[in-house]
Amino acid sequence: MSNLLCFSLFLFSILSAATSRSINETETQALLAIKARILIDPYEVFVSWNGSRHFCDWPGVTCGRRHRRVTALRLPSLNLVGDLSPCIAYLTFLKVINVGNNSFRGPIPLEVTQLHRLEELVLANNSFHGELPRHLARCSNLKFVNLNGNALGGEIHAELGSLSKLRMLQLAMNNFIGTIPPSIGNISSLQYLSLMQNQLEGRIPIELGHLSNLRFLQLASNKFSGTVPKELYNISSIFSFGLADNQLQGQVPPYISLSLPNLRFIYLGKNKFSGPIPTSIANATGLIQLDMGSNELSGPIPNLGSLQNLQALNFGDNFLDSSNDLSFLSSLTNCTNLSLLWLYKNNLTGVLPDSIGNLSTNLNQFRIETNFISGAIPKGIGNLAGLEYLGLFENMFTSTIPDSIGKMS
Ligand SMILES: *[C@@H]1O[C@H](CO)[C@@H](O)[C@H](O)[C@H]1NC(C)=O
Ligand SMILES: *[C@@H]1O[C@H](CO)[C@@H](O)[C@H](O)[C@H]1NC(C)=O
Ligand SMILES: *[C@@H]1O[C@H](CO)[C@@H](O)[C@H](O)[C@H]1NC(C)=O
Ligand SMILES: *[C@@H]1O[C@H](CO)[C@@H](O)[C@H](O)[C@H]1NC(C)=O
Ligand SMILES: *[C@@H]1O[C@H](CO)[C@@H](O)[C@H](O)[C@H]1NC(C)=O
Ligand SMILES: *[C@@H]1O[C@H](CO)[C@@H](O)[C@H](O)[C@H]1NC(C)=O
Ligand SMILES: *[C@@H]1O[C@H](CO)[C@@H](O)[C@H](O)[C@H]1NC(C)=O
Ligand SMILES: *[C@@H]1O[C@H](CO)[C@@H](O)[C@H](O)[C@H]1NC(C)=O
Ligand SMILES: *[C@@H]1O[C@H](CO)[C@@H](O)[C@H](O)[C@H]1NC(C)=O
Ligand SMILES: *[C@@H]1O[C@H](CO)[C@@H](O)[C@H](O)[C@H]1NC(C)=O
Ligand SMILES: *[C@@H]1O[C@H](CO)[C@@H](O)[C@H](O)[C@H]1NC(C)=O
Repeated sequence: MSNLLCFSLFLFSILSAATSRSINETETQALLAIKARILIDPYEVFVSWNGSRHFCDWPGVTCGRRHRRVTALRLPSLNLVGDLSPCIAYLTFLKVINVGNNSFRGPIPLEVTQLHRLEELVLANNSFHGELPRHLARCSNLKFVNLNGNALGGEIHAELGSLSKLRMLQLAMNNFIGTIPPSIGNISSLQYLSLMQNQLEGRIPIELGHLSNLRFLQLASNKFSGTVPKELYNISSIFSFGLADNQLQGQVPPYISLSLPNLRFIYLGKNKFSGPIPTSIANATGLIQLDMGSNELSGPIPNLGSLQNLQALNFGDNFLDSSNDLSFLSSLTNCTNLSLLWLYKNNLTGVLPDSIGNLSTNLNQFRIETNFISGAIPKGIGNLAGLEYLGLFENMFTSTIPDSIGKMS
């Protein structure tokens, strides 16, 4: 029905002279067609989309001040159910479509590709399905694309690489398949790229290393394999680097902290990374979260007392070996905000130092179970008043459990 409506809109728009009156009428009809596709509107936003007021005063609609054409549709978080009318393409001055966080379903109308002025497309947290509109790149002014949390699938088209103004591309939590097109590396303005939780595979293209303004890279929970291109560790603007839960392999390069001076969050867990933990990581002094758990890392754990902002450290489930020296634990007493420390399931040997009683009082989870730690459990452990999870099982502790454990409320 709405397609028919769009067709009559189309006829109207070509048959009538492009007077301000007919343009006005086209925009009114396009908005009413959008309204007609909304099935559930619990906050009754669309009730006031009626003739009693100019459409520029309808809730969620923004118009240009002089030309009075619709420039933005912002209808986020309204629990709307329905689909997005293709008639939206008649709002030719649209710069912003934001219907995020609703229950829109059906495909993303192909017609959006006619909106050449579009800068912001936010459809996140809905139930859109089908593929990306094939020629989305025709919206060459796009700056922000957030399609996270839908049921979209198919491949990520190489054509997207021509969106030269794009700053944010978020396609996380969908069902995209295939590989990352190398052309994405052409989008030099890109600051934020999230492809997390899809079914993407293959190698991470070297070309992503050209994204010299990238601050946030999240590729977790896909099926990427092979080694991480060295070029990726060279993007000095990177703030958050997420590759967790893939099938990546190879070593973590020793120069990582030198080339990533802005690094705050690094997630490499649940992969097949091997070799040692680079000692240079101690120079990445801005780090807040460091996750290298569930890999095949071996060798010693470096002293990380210089990482004073550290809040979470996960080296659990690797082949790390302490050679009877657990002094790195003493160095961590410097990290006064540390709240998660996971070292479980490694080859750690030696005796717990008394200084563990001086670890952060914010420490909430301390897991060092399933290792080869011997000797006594230090009395000082009772100082860790914030602990909610303490894993010490499957070790070689001797002597009695200190009474001080009773202090941990
Ligand atoms: C039309 O919109 C106004 C708000 O602008 C609202 O008060 C009125 O109830 C609406 N009329 C109808 C018939 O829904
Ligand atoms: C444009 O349409 C609105 C109805 O949405 C109407 O109130 C207004 O008078 C129209 N303006 C012109 C110039 O036709
Ligand atoms: C999304 O909508 C839910 C209710 O459906 C609400 O609780 C939540 O705060 C919204 N999130 C955002 C980011 O708007
Ligand atoms: C989508 O939902 C997530 C989780 O509730 C929320 O963090 C995010 O801000 C939402 N996005 C939008 C665009 O509403
Ligand atoms: C975009 O990237 C592809 C593949 O990396 C390359 O072949 C092409 O020349 C690039 N195009 C532009 C305009 O830079
Ligand atoms: C990383 O950058 C440095 C200098 O900016 C350069 O010398 C080096 O070749 C780059 N490495 C890679 C793998 O691109
Ligand atoms: C940390 O950086 C300093 C100076 O840049 C360098 O001398 C030192 O070797 C680095 N430490 C590590 C462990 O890489
Ligand atoms: C603890 O932090 C101080 C700076 O506040 C630093 O001088 C010292 O080397 C750090 N200790 C360790 C073990 O890294
Ligand atoms: C510790 O965390 C708090 C808030 O989470 C923050 O304000 C403070 O700067 C942090 N301190 C350090 C040393 O990182
Ligand atoms: C871990 O330690 C055990 C017992 O000492 C040893 O048998 C095993 O070879 C070690 N594994 C690795 C990967 O170092
Ligand atoms: C713990 O810290 C206190 C105060 O800074 C210090 O006196 C004590 O020696 C430390 N204990 C250990 C075992 O490092």
